[in-house]
Amino acid sequence: MLTPKEAEKILKQGVALNPGPWEQHSFSVARNARLIAEKVEGMDADTAYTMGLLHDIGRRAGVTGILHTLDGYDYLMSLGETEIARICLTHSFPKKDIHTFMGKFDCTDNQKVFLQDYLNKVAYTDYDILIQLCDAISLPNGACIMEKRLVDVAMRHGITDGMIEKWKAFMNTKKHFDQLCGCSIYTLLPNVMENSYQDLI
Ligand SMILES: [Fe+2]
Repeated sequence: MLTPKEAEKILKQGVALNPGPWEQHSFSVARNARLIAEKVEGMDADTAYTMGLLHDIGRRAGVTGILHTLDGYDYLMSLGETEIARICLTHSFPKKDIHTFMGKFDCTDNQKVFLQDYLNKVAYTDYDILIQLCDAISLPNGACIMEKRLVDVAMRHGITDGMIEKWKAFMNTKKHFDQLCGCSIYTLLPNVMENSYQDLI
């Protein structure tokens, strides 16, 4: 597994190819994943950080939708980083249905089949669930309550079929880590109150 320092270098190289807000997002997901993992017995905080840092590494290839999950997977598999490659595919799917993806379906039909088949077969670990959770609540300066982020995304991308089921799947990721941490994960993360008070419009 890559070290946090090695992962930071890979992220920086990716951002140089396609600069954008995904750099700050990736650092924030990584920091939040580390803060939560530190509270969970048996989880490795550096692994959580590294996975958070590289979950969106597929964005190195350009501005894409669902394709970024597959590009990230292919890139990390080419580096022999199987575990982090898995996170690239699983982070957008708390519910194992590719049609719940919010954004452009810019991959080929073969890639769609591959992705759905992969999700059907993979057993999510706590690391998959942790990055799904952190992806859904992280802001550049910390985190905000999940419900707020879900509404924000819905307002930007529109309402889709199956959205309520996807929201429930996201909410279950938080419940899962609240239980593992023995507290609300919001109490572990920076600026949750401040960010949650911000108006969406
Ligand atoms: Fe992503």
